[in-house]
Amino acid sequence: MLHTILYISNTSEDLTKAGLDAIFNSTQSNNSENGITGVLLHFERNFLQVLEGDSTILETLFKTIRQDPRHKNIFIILDKKIEDRIFENYRSGFSILKNKSDLENLKQYLTDADATIPRSKNIAGVLEPFLL
Ligand SMILES: Cc1cc2nc3c(=O)[nH]c(=O)nc-3n(C[C@H](O)[C@H](O)[C@H](O)COP(=O)(O)O)c2cc1C
Repeated sequence: MLHTILYISNTSEDLTKAGLDAIFNSTQSNNSENGITGVLLHFERNFLQVLEGDSTILETLFKTIRQDPRHKNIFIILDKKIEDRIFENYRSGFSILKNKSDLENLKQYLTDADATIPRSKNIAGVLEPFLL
């Protein structure tokens, strides 16, 4: 069964550039190994992450992520069963948003979620500066 989780969080105060790189690197390699797709975005003092994958694998992974001291104030926006992945393209690697089509994909995810989460418009608003 496929599942998705979308959350935002705050970075820990002492997170350095090298620290961020380490997060992105292990995310990228672990997630492609485990068939987890999605996106991890870092901006200012926040993370926004979309995870998609097998519900059992995702549940275990998210327990680990939640306990990671490199971020705090984890706020789950979406946590639900899905029929299809929207980030199917990222199978080969977990991606940091790098270009406009990544961003459009994320916006699409948020638009699809709109029916179930009233706040998704606010979240989409957070992404506006990246769309210029
Ligand atoms: C914001 C944030 C997002 C993370 N996302 C993932 C993830 O999607 N997949 C993952 O394996 N680890 C993720 N991690 C790291 C995990 O918490 C954990 O450190 C890692 O899975 C341990 O695996 P490693 O020993 O291979 O580094 C994330 C950490 C942070 C702070």
